[in-house]
Amino acid sequence: MTRGAPIFKLRNAADAKIYFLSFGSAFIHDSSFLHASNLHDELVHVRFHSKRSHLSISYMRILSGIQASGLLHIGNYFGMMRPAIALQAEGEAFYFIADYHALTTVRDPKALRENTRRVALDFLACGLDPERAALFRQSDVPQVTELAWILSTVAPMGLLERSHSYKDKLARGLAATVGLFNYPVLMAADILMYDSDLVPVGKDQKQHIEITRDLAVKVNDTFGEIFKLPEARIQAATEVVPGIDGQKMSKSYGNNIDIFGDEKETRKRVMSIVTDSTPVDAPKDPAKSIIFKLYSLVASKDEIAKMRDQFLKGGAGYGDFKKQLFDKLWEYFAAMRKRREEILSDKSYIDNVLARGAERANGVADQVMQRVRNAVGLR
Ligand code: TYM
Repeated sequence: MTRGAPIFKLRNAADAKIYFLSFGSAFIHDSSFLHASNLHDELVHVRFHSKRSHLSISYMRILSGIQASGLLHIGNYFGMMRPAIALQAEGEAFYFIADYHALTTVRDPKALRENTRRVALDFLACGLDPERAALFRQSDVPQVTELAWILSTVAPMGLLERSHSYKDKLARGLAATVGLFNYPVLMAADILMYDSDLVPVGKDQKQHIEITRDLAVKVNDTFGEIFKLPEARIQAATEVVPGIDGQKMSKSYGNNIDIFGDEKETRKRVMSIVTDSTPVDAPKDPAKSIIFKLYSLVASKDEIAKMRDQFLKGGAGYGDFKKQLFDKLWEYFAAMRKRREEILSDKSYIDNVLARGAERANGVADQVMQRVRNAVGLR
């Protein structure tokens, strides 16, 4: 028997890292099928010798989504995709392309279809491993709209009215549709549908995760413990990647540098990064420079230190720094560009990955929806 609540970090069923919380030592009933390398550490490595287990094992669930609204940019990459790809080895990952969400802004069906496939392609090229992580279209799990409806029946208007992204979209001139207003409710459904533990995102999604937690608590208070409370995973160093004008990089602000943009366009974008008017000879402040911030994402420690010195010493112009940034950026994504070409040459690869991902996602969603429908009285 084990005591305490185990939280698991599993690589696979055969070789697992298990955290036992709330005890000094683990009590393992049947040591014939478990071999624990160190029972006194908080981190206990356990090798399963059999599928039969007396432990109530659950995988850490990681979930995130990305809208199908165009080519992905390096803000998406460093803010969400890279951390999500790193996390796919740490638990059971579900990553999806948010085509229902994109429908709030994309009005061209052909573009929506193409963008959805392109996001899948880019994510795979960047290192998403479909053997580990399920990659799927949000709309391949239509139960999520049912869950969004159920959540909307407990969602306070005031909570949604305070949504920054809703206010930002209205300020940019988007029509105030019910879909736009309900955006965070659908996002909460996305997250709660998979009993997610961790949600890797950029800082702009933080409030959405808070709304998700608020809605989960409301449902749990009303109908009993149905939902797990998810945690946002936001990496401080990349929580807001700046665009070429210094605002948060965003396709809708037109300040993006795309991960797989063509060489000429990418160079042009880098060369048009906004700078101040400090003369070439004068020392410059790296902390205030967009060029330096972006360079820090793609260069090695030594290279970053070297550029910092060049900034502080003076004698080099922003044009030189931009060239250095372009070179590093282009090099950083070179292997991924190559992988992207390989994927493109296999016509059915993306469809197969999405179909398998949808199957796995539906497996979980069906179970959770059954639980939810029973709890609220729909069944
Ligand atoms: P989206 O498509 O706008 O962005 C996808 C991810 O990229 C991150 N990101 C950034 N991070 C740092 N700096 C930037 N400049 C930057 N730009 C974008 C975003 O924070 C995000 O993590 N609502 C979501 C999609 C979604 C979702 C979900 C996410 C739908 N359902 C459930 C998580 C869980 C969105 O529009 O992301």
